[in-house]
Amino acid sequence: MEKKWWHNSVVYQIYPRSFQDSNGDGIGDLKGIIQKLDYLSDLGIDVIWLSPVFKSPNDDNGYDISDYKDIMEDFGTMEDMEHLLAEAGKRQIKILMDLVANHTSDEHPWFIESRKSKDNPYRDYYIWRDPVDGHEPNDLGSTFSGSAWEWDETTKQYYLHLFSKRQPDLNWENRSVREECWNYMNFWIDKGIGGFRMDVIELIGKIPDEEITGNGPMLHEYIREMNQQTFGDKDLLTVGECWGATPEIAKLYSNPNGSELSMVFQFEHICLDQIPGKEKWDLLPLDLSDLKMVLNKWQTVFHNDGWNSLFWNNHDLPRIVSRWGNDKEYRVESAKMLATLLHGMKGTPYIYQGEELGMTNVRFSEVEQYKDIETLNMYKDRLEKGYPHEDIMESIYAKGRDNARTPMQWSDEVNGGFTTGTPWIEVNPNYVEINAKNQQDDPNSIFNYYKRLIRLRKENEVIVYGDFELIFPEHKNIFAYIRILNNTKILVICNFTKEQVGYTLSSELEKSKKEILIANYEENSSDNILRPYEARMYKVI
Ligand code: NOJ
Repeated sequence: MEKKWWHNSVVYQIYPRSFQDSNGDGIGDLKGIIQKLDYLSDLGIDVIWLSPVFKSPNDDNGYDISDYKDIMEDFGTMEDMEHLLAEAGKRQIKILMDLVANHTSDEHPWFIESRKSKDNPYRDYYIWRDPVDGHEPNDLGSTFSGSAWEWDETTKQYYLHLFSKRQPDLNWENRSVREECWNYMNFWIDKGIGGFRMDVIELIGKIPDEEITGNGPMLHEYIREMNQQTFGDKDLLTVGECWGATPEIAKLYSNPNGSELSMVFQFEHICLDQIPGKEKWDLLPLDLSDLKMVLNKWQTVFHNDGWNSLFWNNHDLPRIVSRWGNDKEYRVESAKMLATLLHGMKGTPYIYQGEELGMTNVRFSEVEQYKDIETLNMYKDRLEKGYPHEDIMESIYAKGRDNARTPMQWSDEVNGGFTTGTPWIEVNPNYVEINAKNQQDDPNSIFNYYKRLIRLRKENEVIVYGDFELIFPEHKNIFAYIRILNNTKILVICNFTKEQVGYTLSSELEKSKKEILIANYEENSSDNILRPYEARMYKVI
């Protein structure tokens, strides 16, 4: 397999609104990010994925764009953005922009034109349909609750919005829509960005009349066209958000022939703790054997013909230490265990801001303290359907997107050092204990553990390219695997529970000499016993 710079890179995702406020308005901004570049450089990451910073009325915090070539006022100016690119570049950090190509804001000039009249030149930029029997054209639903069709009184037609009604879907069948997209992508490529994260890219090939949304028949043709018209001859990282990717589909996206994208960001493991066929709010405890099965599948399915993203977290997901770790007495141990498991795998690891500190979910007592449109719509919808308030709140505590969006906890100063003003969303009250300042100088902190994991990946090619082999597939508490590259072997062994557990290695592994590369407890206890959430990574010699 041809080696690429992004094979051994580590990506750090910034949600700009919640990262660092530099001017006291309570909203994170680009100058704030610049102030923290040395922190990121110290952590050792190579790439920043910047959630959208483009002009937007913020119905969905920037995922509703009204100008792809301008910067959101809350975040700063184009000059600040150029400054950020330059300062990141000085530290060998590349920046991925978030490409939201499936939909725009309803305040985008194309949509303002499109909704004016049926014969407007921009009408066909979006998806308009007549009513059927006086109702919505079909049953397509919005991810943010309710129908995906919104009635527009002026022209007496419905338009499609797979997310909020203020995020109308673009019509990718229209060549001009695609050309507009190539145009603003090239605008950003010319500014020297490191690539794109592509928001819900699997939706652009949709056929709404047949209720096909993800993985439509034209999807890969559009992506190949995009590749040819924009980044195909540049050495960029491109990663597609693909909820519905199977391994076969993932091989199309990330085929090393370079015709589509660098890698997929797929969510099969992330959906394991919800009732199958229901929504993410319908909670189910995680079964470790399901997690092993799914991760093992994705670790072994590519034979030099595809590439994975590795992640537990992003701005849409709850904090992993609260989700599959233990955010109480074993917060530090379990955060490090989950990090070890993920960072020992094959693929490009993504760290979401605050994950490197073991930041946790938040439990706001009032629904009014939540800001996310998905959460607020779901709350209203379920209340109307008769769900008890307490049950809905439990779902929000477990899965709400604001768990990831409370401000970054920099120090124990007011508002965790995020802002001197009033933060747009409240800070998690545990900032007094959990914050970057506490952790940077503590050699045993989660922060310094992540730093070492990142360094290990740079120093050990086996972590980047080695084959993956699951061991103890049946063990109820332990997730363990080996990685092998030529004569080098690594063993990763993690206790996923708060019980002390034993294990027996194969006689070959048992006999080999093993040198600890990293572990989350200070001294090694008995070799074949793991303490609560214990994790060890060995070099097998
Ligand atoms: C996926 C993004 O990650 C999410 O935050 C957003 O709400 C939707 N796409 C719509 O853009």
